[in-house]
Parts: sequence; structure tokens; C-alpha cells
Amino acid sequence: MPRFDYHLFIIAVTFAYILRSSSSLKIGETCSTSNNNCDSGLRCGTCPASGNTRPRCTRIQPLSPTSKVNGLPFNRYTWLTTHNSFAVSGTKSPTGSPVLGPANQEDDVASQLQNGVRGLMLDMYDFNNDIWLCHSFGGKCYNITAFQPAINVLRDVQNFLQANPSEIITIFIEDYVTSPNGLTKLFTASGLTKYMFPVSQMPKNGSDWPTITDMVNQNQRLIVFTSKSSKEASEGIAYEWTYIVENQYGNGGQIAGSCPPRSESAPMNTTSRSLVLLNYFSTNPNVTGACVDNSAPILSMMNTCQIAAGNRWPNYIAVDFYQRSDGGGAAEAVDEANGHLTCGCSNIAYCGVNGTCNTPMLSPPPPAQLSPGGSGDSSHSYSVHEVVRLQWFVGALLSTLIMLLLN
Ligand SMILES: *[C@@H]1O[C@H](CO)[C@@H](O)[C@H](O)[C@H]1NC(C)=O
Ligand SMILES: *[C@@H]1O[C@H](CO)[C@@H](O)[C@H](O)[C@H]1NC(C)=O
Ligand SMILES: *[C@@H]1O[C@H](CO)[C@@H](O)[C@H](O)[C@H]1NC(C)=O
Ligand SMILES: *[C@@H]1O[C@H](CO)[C@@H](O)[C@H](O)[C@H]1NC(C)=O
Ligand SMILES: *[C@@H]1O[C@H](CO)[C@@H](O)[C@H](O)[C@H]1NC(C)=O
Repeated sequence: MPRFDYHLFIIAVTFAYILRSSSSLKIGETCSTSNNNCDSGLRCGTCPASGNTRPRCTRIQPLSPTSKVNGLPFNRYTWLTTHNSFAVSGTKSPTGSPVLGPANQEDDVASQLQNGVRGLMLDMYDFNNDIWLCHSFGGKCYNITAFQPAINVLRDVQNFLQANPSEIITIFIEDYVTSPNGLTKLFTASGLTKYMFPVSQMPKNGSDWPTITDMVNQNQRLIVFTSKSSKEASEGIAYEWTYIVENQYGNGGQIAGSCPPRSESAPMNTTSRSLVLLNYFSTNPNVTGACVDNSAPILSMMNTCQIAAGNRWPNYIAVDFYQRSDGGGAAEAVDEANGHLTCGCSNIAYCGVNGTCNTPMLSPPPPAQLSPGGSGDSSHSYSVHEVVRLQWFVGALLSTLIMLLLN
């Protein structure tokens, strides 16, 4: 009897393995762009501009900032932030007009939130007797620059906060709204007012923010900043640069080795601002270039800005096309900053017990380029993982046969 059970066991394991091997692929593995067969949190992509022509699994989701060390002050975490979160490629404006001008993201805000985005940059304008999200010029919104009414996106935020009672979201408003109490009416109508973190409790002298635990317990889980200083007094909405330092955005923020502040911000090393925001995206957003920006260069700029900010890691990392990279992407930058901020390790994935770090031994990654003669999806070159899988399968099959013969 014990021998018979052993055969069954071997057969069961073999079949379980065959089933499993048809499912998912890990980061860096060769994948198919036509049916994203990567693990969840990954996406199959290339980045030809950095020589990565072999379709492989790249990361689109950071680890949850609170997953290793929870309950620290809010400013001891880093949050993935999308620049122009609403400017999604292929949007047709509800005005009926196609939206002209460049997009900055590829999925809508509801999907971004599912992927771990926790900072949203939204440009708000008076338009059609309402407040709209526009990507415009001269402070005015037009049909061809009008993405959608802001309330649609704010309702997505409301749904997410309601469904995820321990999550915290920050909204950065690039504010062109001049209608009286426009923002107040908008946030009231969207059901978000009850979640708003009160301005009166935001530290103005560089001290720590309340802890995540406090913010969650008080249900004060939405931080809203405006770019208009007058709104703090008139509507109780925090003026961003009283609380945050921020580096230059666009091309001016992409000069290797320098981290100047944007014009509205105090110098990066102004410690009376408790929060630090890292912008890293080009003036002319495009997916071709963004996958390069969101790879090695953003990690390098994060280090440059960490020094410029008086040895402070960023609390927000703002990018275009956050899903694009040639490997770890913006998610990796967020994980690294969260490692430094929450446990003192170089990546949140390495946080160990009692302040130790479990830094893994890394094996060399497979090459980024297709082997000569390979042509993307149609060719089938075996990845290391697949070869190991095949060996395992053949071995298990042989041992099953041998056991059956011996029986
Ligand atoms: C803008 O769109 C509205 C429909 O929402 C239309 O009535 C109006 O004529 C359009 N304006 C221009 C300048 O095309
Ligand atoms: C900073 O402000 C907080 C209140 O926001 C106060 O409790 C704290 O004592 C102040 N710290 C300094 C150094 O002034
Ligand atoms: C902050 O940085 C500036 C350069 O941008 C430097 O001149 C100044 O000394 C720094 N201040 C502190 C307190 O480190
Ligand atoms: C595309 O983006 C890259 C980097 O983000 C930038 O250097 C380049 O100028 C952009 N290309 C165009 C055509 O705008
Ligand atoms: C961590 O530190 C605590 C208190 O010093 C100690 O009791 C515990 O054994 C430590 N755990 C490990 C795994 O070292």
C-alpha cells in the first residue's frame, strides 16, 4: 500500500506541475505580448529605445508601502504617482471632439488605483458650467483639450477609498478653477469631503505627519493639495508648496546629476516642508521614451534628488506611462524608496526582522535583446525557466514510469 500511494503522489505532483507551468511567468522572462502570460502585477513589454527588444515580463505594481512596516508617520512612505493621471491615450472627449495633444497614461484612474497608484495629478478647469479635467493652455479648457468632467474621476477615487478602508490617496490639483467655491462643491458632490485630511493638522514646520494608523482610524485618507495659494484660506484646501518640495518637471528635471526645484517650490533641502516629491518625465511625453525614463534613469535621479533634498527619499514618485519600463520600472523606484524609508534596507522587499535586511543573491538576468534570427512573438526561444521546467517534467515522468515498472 505505501508504494501505491507513492505512485499516486508522483503522478499528482507531475500533473500539478504541468498545470502550473501553463500559467504565469516571472519578471524578466520571455513572454507573449499578444496574451499577457506574465504573473499578476507584471506586463509583457519591450523597450526598444533601451535595447530591450525581447518581449519580457516587466513590473507595473509596486509592493504595498505599508506591507513590511505599518503605522509609521505618513511622510515615512513613498507613493507611486501618475502625472496627468486623467490624460489617457485614445480618450474621446464627451464633448464629441477627439482630444488633441499628447497623452500621459494608458489606463484610467480606476485601473491605476488597482495597480497601486496612490498619487494623482489632476488639471482642473472651469468648463461647460462644471469643472473638467483638461490638458490645456492659457488657463482655459476647450472641447479638443477636455478629457472629462472631474467628478467622474473623483467618484472612482471615492469608490476605491470606500472599498479599501486602509488605503490613503493624495490628489495634486493643478488649479485653474475660478468659480466661487468650485472645488468645495466638486468634492462635496463626489462624496469625498468626509475623507479629506484637514489642513489644520498638516505639519507646517517640518515635523512628522500623523501616522498611517491615525489617518486610517480617523478615516482621514484623502490628502488634497492645490497649486493656488488663495484656496487654503478661502476653501480650506492645502496650498501644495507649503507642505512639499518638488523638483523641476519635464526636460529640465531630467539632466543627470542635478535636481533643481520647480519654480513654485522652496529649495529641495528646505526641511520645513515635510514631504518630498520627485518628478521624472519628459516635456514631450511618449511611450517610446518613457520606458527608458522609467528604468535606470529614474533610479539615478532618485538618488541625485535624495541628496539634494537633504538626504530625504521622495514621498511621491511622479511619472508618465507608469506601466512602461524595461524591467522594474517606476514600481522598483517606489520599492527602493520605501525600503530606505520604512526599514533602512535598499528595497522594501528586503526588509527583515529587527532592522536586518535580507538582500538576495542575484543571478545574472537573461539578455535584453532577441537572439539573432529571433523575431518577437513568433519565434520561440526557451527561457531558462522553461528549460528547468522541461527537465523537471521529464524527470518526474521517468521516475513515475520506473516506479510503475518496479511495482
Ligand atoms: C463643443 O462641444 C459642444 C458639445 O458638448 C458643442 O455644442 C460645441 O459647439 C462645441 N464647441 C466647439 C467650438 O466646437
Ligand atoms: C511644529 O508644529 C507642530 C504642530 O503642527 C507642533 O506640535 C510642534 O511643536 C512644532 N515643532 C516645532 C519644532 O516648532
Ligand atoms: C540647501 O541647498 C543650497 C543649494 O541649493 C545650499 O546653498 C544650502 O546651503 C543648503 N542648505 C542647507 C541647510 O543644507
Ligand atoms: C520622447 O521621450 C523622450 C524621453 O522621455 C524624449 O527625450 C523625446 O524627446 C521624446 N520624443 C518626442 C518625439 O517628443
Ligand atoms: C527581535 O528583537 C526582539 C527584541 O529585542 C527579540 O525578542 C527577538 O528575538 C528578535 N528576533 C529575531 C528574529 O532576532
